Amino acid sequence: MFARIAGVGSYLPGPPLSNDDLKQRGVETNDEWIVSRTGIKSRHLADANCTSSDLALEASRKALVAAGIDASTLDLIIVATSTPDFIFPSTACLLQAKLGNHSAMAFDVQAVCSGFVYAMNIAEKFIRFGSHKKVLVVGAEVFSRILDWDDRSTCVLFGDGAGAVILEASGTPGILASAAHADGAYHGILSVPGNVCGGKVIGDPFLRMDGQAVFKFAVRVLADVAQECCALAGILPTGIDWLIPHQANIRIIESTAKRVGIDMNKVIVTVDRHGNTSAASIPLALDAAVRDGRVQRGHKVLLEGVGGGFTWGAVLLEF
Ligand code: ACO
Repeated sequence: MFARIAGVGSYLPGPPLSNDDLKQRGVETNDEWIVSRTGIKSRHLADANCTSSDLALEASRKALVAAGIDASTLDLIIVATSTPDFIFPSTACLLQAKLGNHSAMAFDVQAVCSGFVYAMNIAEKFIRFGSHKKVLVVGAEVFSRILDWDDRSTCVLFGDGAGAVILEASGTPGILASAAHADGAYHGILSVPGNVCGGKVIGDPFLRMDGQAVFKFAVRVLADVAQECCALAGILPTGIDWLIPHQANIRIIESTAKRVGIDMNKVIVTVDRHGNTSAASIPLALDAAVRDGRVQRGHKVLLEGVGGGFTWGAVLLEF
């Protein structure tokens, strides 16, 4: 039994904000610096009253329509997010309520920018085991909430959004292989090292990053896990139709593709217009490529992500 993608959807809040728009909002930066180091030209930011479950709802509705199924038939809902609506209940439960589903198992996955590939990896095991048949997997983030807008080296990199897929049990090939790893020894190079305790913020509530350490780590593990996942499926990286990497930085994406031996014309890139939307970035890019007709049924697609933790993983699927 395969876990096969039956439908994809995504949602971006509000109009795009250019690098010049950020400058006008008071960030001491310029378009040339951001574009040359990251490839980011614009991103979307959610209003203060818009939550991850709101974004997830819009993306999920589109994925449900694409799959041609009703939310009431879902038996598992997994939301990957590092910016949940609440400490609890989970964003998956809040999404479930908004969708009007009253019985599916629902939980969040916290693996930062690897969250979506972790969630796909988990969902596939439920389907392959035979206990669940219709699974909604979402990556949803309002990363703008955890950015220090006085720290220009991080605030220009991220955006908000959500992407969703419906995975169904099927006799037709879907997910062919997956791999996921973590090494918590690297927790300090990318983190939001704060907490809420006794009604107060303890520590630092903003994203902190050693950009150069993250860059080196990301390229190494993304190349390794792409090769690992292809080997598990018995496919050479050159046999992949599309690589859809986490959209953090065009230089990380290009370096990874080069190391793995995949031509850039087979790589889906949305970082230029979405920025880094953490767990949402891969399903957002997948949806863009499905809707513009690049990713088609039968294509072999490699999804891969890396994020705080550090965590990393890949999923190879036949679309
Ligand atoms: N605009 C203008 N100047 C800036 C900005 C900005 N937004 N941010 C920093 N600078 C300045 C710095 O102050 C510094 O100036 P100085 O030399 O006068 O002190 C100069 O630019 C260089 O700063 P560095 O931090 O050394 O810049 P670097 O070349 O390392 O680029 C960057 C920083 C883009 C973050 C890079 O390290 C990188 O791409 N890292 C990868 C991190 C990443 O993509 N993280 C995403 C999250 S992790 C994930 O999703 C897996």
